[in-house]
Amino acid sequence: METSVLKVDPTNPESDVIGRAAAVIRSGGLVAFPTETVYGLGAKGLSAEAVAGIFNAKGRPSTNPLILHVSDASEVLNVAADWPATAQTLAARFWPGPLTLVVPKRDSVPHIVTAGGPTVAVRCPNHAVARALIRAAGVPLAAPSANRSTELSPTRAGHVLKGLNGLIAMVLDGGRCSGGLESTVVDVTGEIPRVLRPGLITVPMLEAVCGRVEVGAKSEGVARAPGQMAKHYSPRTPLVLAEDADAEHRRLKDAGLRVISLGYDLIYDYRFISDDPAEYAADLYALLHELDNGLYDQIVVEMPPDTPEWAAVRDRLTRAAARE
Ligand code: TXA
Ligand code: MG
Repeated sequence: METSVLKVDPTNPESDVIGRAAAVIRSGGLVAFPTETVYGLGAKGLSAEAVAGIFNAKGRPSTNPLILHVSDASEVLNVAADWPATAQTLAARFWPGPLTLVVPKRDSVPHIVTAGGPTVAVRCPNHAVARALIRAAGVPLAAPSANRSTELSPTRAGHVLKGLNGLIAMVLDGGRCSGGLESTVVDVTGEIPRVLRPGLITVPMLEAVCGRVEVGAKSEGVARAPGQMAKHYSPRTPLVLAEDADAEHRRLKDAGLRVISLGYDLIYDYRFISDDPAEYAADLYALLHELDNGLYDQIVVEMPPDTPEWAAVRDRLTRAAARE
């Protein structure tokens, strides 16, 4: 299949471009599109057949459920059987935005979307292209990050093509994603909200709105976040995390490896990344895509501090460093 790449204005999307993309979606095809977090790979969310195409293109295990994207909070009742008060509170504060809410699913949501589970993840993205596409398609879009399973998420159209060129019908190129890390996933089906995946909406931000939250997947039952496999978001070049990146860099270099480091205060060959958590998040995947170019045997990343505003970055780095 030939993948067509269409430029689109990220703030004022051209209606003819959105119309062409929506036609692909309506006919059951796959379109990658920008959101404020990362590029998503969208399909008609209530069609089991269209959604199966996403799993095929990504090589994604069928045990890993997808997020349904809506263009407005008023659309959630088309897919959610219940909309708990906490969901309402969090959506009112953070939507549109990088927050995904896990709620009981309606029968209309195909099992393939939820990996057979009774809950569905829903998000309203804060990006004009994403919302225009959802509206024009006329259905919620099932959309994981637009990368092959376990690989780095895309924050530019070029990153999408690296993994999925020839496997999907279309990419809408709306430039860079401003957020750079995937949304915070919060399960609101229980009494206390539970963060299943840390993201740009931090735990203190959530707690300021809805009181105490729990963090981490439950060890059993449906609240497990199946996408939280240890190895995920990984460049092909081995990546190692270090508290003292310069010492680690030196050790590996002395062992004869071609090494590059990523950090904000290093001595040896390194690429600079900001020491501000939001700027770091926005640039991380793009820098890793760039360093994953075959010129290095090893990427060393300086571990950022263990504080809530760095939690999402630390989570992704830890998974990027995991070997399996
Ligand atoms: O920012 C984002 O969330 C991006 C953009 C495209 O919206 N999407 C994204 O999708 O990161 P994906 O499929 O790469 O990650 C979805 C995460 C996975 O960890 C998955 O396991 C979890 O959400 N998830 C989806 N449905 C769930 C459910 N019903 N219960 C628990 N976790 C769920
Ligand atoms: Mg993903």
